[in-house]
Order: sequence, then C-alpha cells, then structure tokens
Amino acid sequence: MTAGEIRLVFLTEANRASVASLELAPEQRDFVASNAESLDEADLDEDARPRVVMAGDRVVGFLMYDAPLDDDEARIYRFMIDRASQGKGYGKAALREVLGEIGGLGHIRHVSICYEPENEAARQLYRAAGFVEEGLDEDGEMIADLALAASTGR
Ligand SMILES: CC(C)(COP(=O)(O)OP(=O)(O)OC[C@H]1O[C@@H](n2cnc3c(N)ncnc32)[C@H](O)[C@@H]1OP(=O)(O)O)[C@@H](O)C(=O)NCCC(=O)NCCS
Repeated sequence: MTAGEIRLVFLTEANRASVASLELAPEQRDFVASNAESLDEADLDEDARPRVVMAGDRVVGFLMYDAPLDDDEARIYRFMIDRASQGKGYGKAALREVLGEIGGLGHIRHVSICYEPENEAARQLYRAAGFVEEGLDEDGEMIADLALAASTGR
C-alpha cells in the first residue's frame, strides 16, 4: 500500500469500532486525546468533522476538524495514525487530503493546528505542509497556522 492510496472517509457505524481500536505508542499517548474520547466528542459537537484515514480497505488513522461557516479559519484538532502504520507517509498523505477537502469548502483561508512543543514528528509533518509556528497558547501547546491561498494557490 502506497501513500498515494490514502483517502479519507466519513465516520460511520461500520468503521467506528476500527477507529476506537487504533493505537499509539505509549510515549505518544499524551500528544492527542484517545479516539474513544474523540468519537464521543464527534457525536456531541455538531461542528466536528471527523474523518477516518483509509489505506485501501484498512482503517489506519483518524482526524477531526471544524470549519464554521461564519469563520474563515478551520481548526484541525485531532490527528493520529495507528502505531503499526506510522512512518510510511500515511500521515503526510492524510494531511494533504484533509487540506484539499478544507480548501474545497470555499470559505476557509486559514487552517490552524496545535501540538505539544516536544512532538517532533508533528512539528516536522506540519512544517513540511507549510504551517508556520505562532507560539504557545495558554496551555503550553504550540499553535501553527497555514494560509491556504498562499500554499495551495487557491
Ligand atoms: C504525527 C503522525 C500523525 C505522523 O504520521 P505518520 O504516518 O507516521 O507520518 P509520515 O510517515 O507521513 O511522515 C510525515 C513526516 O512526519 C515527520 N515524522 C514522522 N515521524 C517522525 C518521527 N518519529 N520523528 C520526526 N519526524 C517524524 C517527518 O517529517 C515525515 O516526513 P519525511 O518522511 O518526509 O521526513 C503520527 O506520528 C502520530 O499519529 N503520532 C501520534 C499522535 C500525534 O502526535 N498526533 C499529532 C497531534 S496534533
């Protein structure tokens, strides 16, 4: 399976259990809320846009973002690839897919993302996609911003 075959699908009753069973390495578990928590949140928050990362027919990751219609900023606030599928370019491909989806919404000009400052994999991944670090928020998390028009030519 190559990274070119990565796609995002909606969260459904059929793929929910697979998302819940995705795992991170122990040292990564503080970097992102558990998928069980995110699935609950997806049910409760009508602005949440949960997406399941597929490699062919296999569920390999999960992400969630919001893109309120009355704002020009989207926020990707969950992003994970199962530990067994990391390091194969899937995260990069999934990020490309979600940025394409967000750009296609039409009303979004900025995408923000936040991560723990010590999360080097996240930093590298987002920097390569054009995100620029803006500094720490009040919880000590790094905020990074991507200006869509500049990076995608939209
Ligand atoms: C961050 C994460 C989503 C990356 O997914 P992935 O599929 O492993 O990433 P990829 O294989 O597509 O790699 C993309 C880039 O990320 C960076 N990267 C990935 N793993 C890395 C590591 N262990 N150390 C440093 N950089 C790393 C590299 O820049 C890489 O690009 P390159 O291969 O061209 O150098 C994944 O590691 C993960 O789920 N981590 C735990 C949860 C998390 O931290 N989520 C982000 C919170 S906002």
